[in-house]
Amino acid sequence: MEHFIKDKQYNIGHICTGQQCEAGFGDKVAMRWLSSHLEQRDYTFSELDQTTARFANVLQGLGVAPGDVFFTLLPKMPEQFFAFLGALKLQTIVGTLFSNFGEEAILDRVGDAGASAIITKKSFLKKISRIRDRLPTLRFIIVVDIDQHQSDDILSYSRLMEQASDSFYVAHTPPETPSVLHYTSGSTGKPKGVLHAHRSILMQRFTAETVLGLTPDDVFWCTADQGWVTGTSYGIIGPWSMGVTQVHFGGGYNAEEWFRILQNQGITVLYSAPTALRMLMREDAGLYAGFDLKALRHICSVGEPLNPEVIHWARRTIDKEVYDTWFQTETGAIMIANRPGLEIRPGSMGVPVAGIEPAIIADDGSIILDGAPGNLCIQAGWASMFTTYLNNPEIYASRIRAGYYYTGDTAYRDADGYYWFRGRSDDVINTSGHLISPFEIESTLIEVPEVAEAGVIGAPDELLFEKVIAFVALRSQVVFSRELELKIRLHVSNKLSSVATPHEIICLDSIPKNKSGKIMRRVLKARYLGIDAGDISTLED
Ligand code: PRX
Repeated sequence: MEHFIKDKQYNIGHICTGQQCEAGFGDKVAMRWLSSHLEQRDYTFSELDQTTARFANVLQGLGVAPGDVFFTLLPKMPEQFFAFLGALKLQTIVGTLFSNFGEEAILDRVGDAGASAIITKKSFLKKISRIRDRLPTLRFIIVVDIDQHQSDDILSYSRLMEQASDSFYVAHTPPETPSVLHYTSGSTGKPKGVLHAHRSILMQRFTAETVLGLTPDDVFWCTADQGWVTGTSYGIIGPWSMGVTQVHFGGGYNAEEWFRILQNQGITVLYSAPTALRMLMREDAGLYAGFDLKALRHICSVGEPLNPEVIHWARRTIDKEVYDTWFQTETGAIMIANRPGLEIRPGSMGVPVAGIEPAIIADDGSIILDGAPGNLCIQAGWASMFTTYLNNPEIYASRIRAGYYYTGDTAYRDADGYYWFRGRSDDVINTSGHLISPFEIESTLIEVPEVAEAGVIGAPDELLFEKVIAFVALRSQVVFSRELELKIRLHVSNKLSSVATPHEIICLDSIPKNKSGKIMRRVLKARYLGIDAGDISTLED
């Protein structure tokens, strides 16, 4: 796995750029950028190396140091990639934020990490300025689309870049050096910062080769946003660590455009998510019948359970296999997967990646061997394992028991070693691949003056896997209305993000709670689904 590590240099920024040039890929296209209007711009590995070097110099010039935290708050655009790899070259920890995050979501993450700088777009300055006084450590805001510095600390990316040198010496980076920070939501408390180390590249490259099946001759398209671990592990690190050309598209989902990109760019491997694949499946067959996808070898999927129907659809209509893969922010790289050369069991996540030792463990800690469901755990110590939850070592410690990391998922293993996803062991909601915390939404809902109490659940959805359902109890005298519903939705969207915005808001007289005041989400879910709530003896009187 370590064969590509030269002189014990584990620096992700260097391996993905300078090392590719040293290997003779300098003139090869690293990134084919397609704007939302499908304008095309190619960046070679050599350009990627120089531009990321410039950015490392920019950060260093601003006094950002190795070990400091730097965030990106950008939609998919070339600067996202330059900033990410440039920061890593400097050994600065880089966190990526979804650009549709609202101010509260940004505050929680940037504040918790004590970040010193952020790169963003002009249109997001407003949301940052509303929380700026609560971010005392934030020294610089670099803005990609202003020509002149706006003040001493709101700086123009292009001005900074034109003044910076395109050569940067990447210091020797040992494997344990902190690298990437992604925040993940739990069912209680604020989002937790999952911190990775530069050693993760070992597993990211290994799985890019052995699961996604990539070789340097491939043209790879990973549709994931860089705010998500898939977007960094496989939209940046894995493929570029092996000299693969990646296509990145700045537009959103559009079936026809996607097929046009697959065909015109000669994409050989596509990595996407079940929600997007289900959307493609719903399109009229006539839409894709005219496209020539002979370059495409296969499709890989991640983030939510992949329905067998998607696999059958892809076989039937475009004659391609879809390989489901499973991983998490914490695992940093794919752990369990279907892959070329392995018989697919539709509905199963596949088998463990070489060297990965999962186990199904009962709540009492005993290992389940007979195929019954239990907690999906992974033997600790794989190369891309997160190093901690930032500022939360107790929660980190609680997730590792007897040498196993508890993933929070439940699953079972069949007699042939295939793993089958069952669900989450907590209340975290998975909507179109985004993990959403019911707690965060509940806290945001009760900020609306008319809302007295709130409970949030995930309910099954054919397209999104789960949808967010909010129950609210209103203050006395307040009447539920269409206007109030809109106000609540807008509040959640502005404060958290559009994906966290409830699909449905249901008004109740009160929210069921147990005797210690904990919201009984299980009861709400049963009520929503019209099923028996089971034992509710601990409900308050
Ligand atoms: O519940 C599992 C689900 O997504 C969770 C991880 O989410 P996150 O940390 O945001 O990382 C997403 C990128 C990998 C898992 O704990 N999940 C992920 N892949 C699958 C899945 N559920 C079912 N099948 C999958 N293939």
